[in-house]
Amino acid sequence: MTTDTFKPGLEGVIAGSTDICCVDQGKLLYRGYPISELAEKVSFEEVAHLLLYGDLPNAAALAKFQSKIDQFRGLPPEVVQAIASIPKDAPMMDVLRTGVSMAGHFSSFKGSDVETLRDQATWLIAVTADVVGVRYRLLHGKEPIASKSGLSHAAQILHLCHGIEPDATSVRLLDLTLVLYAEHDFNASTFTARVIGSTTSDMVSSITGAIGALKGPLHGGANERAMELLSRFKSSEEAAVWVQEALARKERVMGFGHRVYKNGDHRARILEREMRNLAEQKGRMDLVAIYDAIKDPIVNKERPIYPNVDYPCGLTYYLLDLPLDLYTPLFVCSRITGWCAHYIEQSRDNRIYRPLSNYVGVSEREVPDIARR
Ligand SMILES: CC(C)(COP(=O)(O)OP(=O)(O)OC[C@H]1O[C@@H](n2cnc3c(N)ncnc32)[C@H](O)[C@@H]1OP(=O)(O)O)[C@@H](O)C(=O)NCCC(=O)NCCS
Repeated sequence: MTTDTFKPGLEGVIAGSTDICCVDQGKLLYRGYPISELAEKVSFEEVAHLLLYGDLPNAAALAKFQSKIDQFRGLPPEVVQAIASIPKDAPMMDVLRTGVSMAGHFSSFKGSDVETLRDQATWLIAVTADVVGVRYRLLHGKEPIASKSGLSHAAQILHLCHGIEPDATSVRLLDLTLVLYAEHDFNASTFTARVIGSTTSDMVSSITGAIGALKGPLHGGANERAMELLSRFKSSEEAAVWVQEALARKERVMGFGHRVYKNGDHRARILEREMRNLAEQKGRMDLVAIYDAIKDPIVNKERPIYPNVDYPCGLTYYLLDLPLDLYTPLFVCSRITGWCAHYIEQSRDNRIYRPLSNYVGVSEREVPDIARR
């Protein structure tokens, strides 16, 4: 066995074929459609249909899909009780992981034909939003509320948390982030979902693992960390001093960098435009000044590092008055579609993932008697 094929972090390694998403320096396509067009023209539910069924729905198929999501909404009381019993200081992502796993015990999907898997994926879209809503309300001393049929998924999430009709700007921008977050080929959490799926384990187990992977600050947890960073500074001058020092220390700035994109993240460019407009509407250009004070020196370095989608997303969610611990769970409410599409794709043409390791331990030795250890 040679070690010349060893790539730390699997950088540059092609780990499978997919027709779901193309992530490239120059483009990001969901089933062939450019992200810029999807962001402008379609809703999250249309994207979810595209990922799960292979194409954009017509009006009738969209209505059917939306009504199926609505039918799946509402958690069994046992799951609500289980969520209520989790310590209050548990991170929302841990609650989501447990909630999805617990809800799985009360679902009755049998079989692995593609239609059943699509239905289970649709159920998971409803479950993730429900768990977020239930936990959010319980933490704020409020009873969970029933979903309201006919709302878009973005509006439903806001309704399940706040219990009031959400405003149009919040719905539109949350929907946009759900579209941008829905899918991104073999990233760490999707790869986790595929690895679990490749053992022919079930979809809920695969998604539970993926949620755990997304939680990490080097992955989906970065949107919360990016906003935490921005809120540390009272002025752009303070932020500018900090970023020079951070770069000198070779510190990782959350919300920057990407394994694949080396010239910038398509999603970040789209969202940043919207975030700037929102900040202007809300009279919070002071926050944009801090945002730019951190960003400019990093993108203008000799070897530039660009913001990924999590950098503008953190500030967008903040400007929408969403609480910090919902940021990564909202990412889950979207990426659940990509994960499930990959689970289904993996199950159609499966070979178990079983790579090799580069052994760097001690060479073979004899087991000493216990008295000599
Ligand atoms: C996303 C991430 C994990 C990719 O990691 P990776 O592909 O292994 O990147 P590398 O570690 O090879 O980075 C290449 C260089 O850029 C630097 N770099 C990468 N991301 C950086 C960041 N966020 N801040 C400062 N420097 C960064 C590295 O220090 C390295 O510099 P060096 O060559 O002088 O050692 C990494 O960019 C990161 O930690 N980003 C912050 C977390 C984040 O925003 N995650 C969300 C991703 S969508």
